[in-house]
Amino acid sequence: MDYQGIIEEIAALVRPEFGKGKVADYIPALAKVPASKFGIAVRTLSGDTFQVGDAEEAFSIQSISKVFALAQAYPIYGEALWERVGMEPSGNPFNSLVQLEYEKGIPRNPFINAGALVITDMLIEHFPKPKTRMLDFIRELSGSDDVYYDYEVTRSEREFGFTNAALVNFMKSHYNIKAPVEQVLDVYFHQCSVAMNCRELASAFLLLANHGVHPRNGQRILTKSQAKRINAIMLTCGFYDEAGEFAFCVGLPGKSGVGGGIVAVIPNELSIAVWSPELNEHGNSQAGIKALELFTTMTEMSIF
Ligand code: DON
Repeated sequence: MDYQGIIEEIAALVRPEFGKGKVADYIPALAKVPASKFGIAVRTLSGDTFQVGDAEEAFSIQSISKVFALAQAYPIYGEALWERVGMEPSGNPFNSLVQLEYEKGIPRNPFINAGALVITDMLIEHFPKPKTRMLDFIRELSGSDDVYYDYEVTRSEREFGFTNAALVNFMKSHYNIKAPVEQVLDVYFHQCSVAMNCRELASAFLLLANHGVHPRNGQRILTKSQAKRINAIMLTCGFYDEAGEFAFCVGLPGKSGVGGGIVAVIPNELSIAVWSPELNEHGNSQAGIKALELFTTMTEMSIF
């Protein structure tokens, strides 16, 4: 398969999407990212890398980090993890508060903010230094020591993090948060502010294309079942209230972030990361979704 030719063609075909979305503006650090940035990286399990555009430029991965958090917590807590967070799509925006009240502080899934905050709480309980551990984990998976915390983003997340603070406080009142509220928010805001590029992201997500085994050193990080389940949750919950449409148009497990990144996985084959900062009304990358739709159409590869 000529992946290089395909992603170059996609980079040209998505141009009409530019200008249709809007760069995240809830914090200044994200608002200043040029809307015209666009990159794709494909990493195959056979060891090849294909990339186009700004695939080497680091960006804020935001909610994509929720997958890294789950991949750390799941092997530690096993199936007991699901006593504190569900596995159903929410059909709601990522920062929604409404379901939490009538579902008694148990978030729908680990990829909405409420669910990710519970996972963060679990990581704090287990790791003496959860922030260092998060960075080490992502560096190990991506094979790159260049992955870093963008502290300007961390600070802004904190400054404007009122909804996240509300979510943690509410769950704390339902005894679903154990650590102090401030600590959970601090670790979560750091996690959201991880910066890395498309190549590094695609490399890191090969873990999920490879049934939980680190593709380069052969170390098992997740059981086969855990890897399958994380993929299943990415498919059903990775794009918030647009998860159905993503499955419909793209047909791959994936995860988006408001920094404009999307990463998706084809089990047994490859992972692909796309970055384009303009977001659609659901907070997912406008051109990124189009690019992935084109990728599965042109390669005729989806999980279905
Ligand atoms: O928690 C927040 O509000 C953001 N820092 C992360 C949200 C995010 O990326 C949602 N994704 N589409």
